Amino acid sequence: MGDNVLKVSGLKVAYGGIKAVKGIDLEVNKGELVALIGANGAGKTTTLKAITGTLPPCKVEGTVSYKGVSLKGSQSFHLVEKRLAMVPEGRGVFTRMSIQENLMMGAYTRNDKAGIDADIAKWFDVFPRLKERAAQMAGTLSGGEQQMLAMARALMSHPELLLLDEPSMGLSPIMVEKIFEVIRNVSKEGITVLLVEQNAKLALQAAHRGYVMDSGLITMTGNAKDMLDDPRVKAAYLGE
Ligand SMILES: Nc1ncnc2c1ncn2[C@@H]1O[C@H](COP(=O)(O)OP(=O)(O)O)[C@@H](O)[C@H]1O
Ligand SMILES: [Mg+2]
Repeated sequence: MGDNVLKVSGLKVAYGGIKAVKGIDLEVNKGELVALIGANGAGKTTTLKAITGTLPPCKVEGTVSYKGVSLKGSQSFHLVEKRLAMVPEGRGVFTRMSIQENLMMGAYTRNDKAGIDADIAKWFDVFPRLKERAAQMAGTLSGGEQQMLAMARALMSHPELLLLDEPSMGLSPIMVEKIFEVIRNVSKEGITVLLVEQNAKLALQAAHRGYVMDSGLITMTGNAKDMLDDPRVKAAYLGE
């Protein structure tokens, strides 16, 4: 215990008069895959943005520590150097760069050319559609393909902690399967993951632990398997 990679304590975020996050505590231990689930508007994206310091100007209270050090004042490019990567909601690929260039951008903090080439080859194996389109502008890809590229690009930086915001949003069932397969494999390789999802069932099936967020508060937390069996979670989030 005490082996947390990420620790959020007493986090509050208000956009003007809107209290989006109302005092939450959350931690992710080394090697864990933790799911943060909750309805639209619960405050999940705001929480991730507070962790990465990418919120618009607003009132933030509380602390976020990464590997025991406060992230206060960190800018997103410093986070990559600290080996913390985030795939934002709505993907965030460089639409006017090719797929190959997007992957290379993901590795900009690395200088092991052979390793970078090997990783690009690996991601092209995992996502053959990206390989077929390697020289194409990323903006010409479908939503699902952009999601795959965003994930591969984030992993090109060899993160220790990966933050994912709704990776399944807008994807076809087959692509959702594929993305979750990648998430499970990434976790098995030892990367620590905080997964924000509205697809509570898939997220809890993949995760070790989970948190439920509702109206800016954490209302439930526990072992992911227990949460899948919890009648309250079933009724509110699994449609069972
Ligand atoms: N930039 C913003 N300005 C004002 N209100 C915002 C902004 N971003 C989010 N909100 C509000 O904060 C609340 C939480 O939003 P969000 O964190 O995006 O929730 P989730 O990701 O769980 O759907 C919502 O009420 C939303 O309308
Ligand atoms: Mg969101």
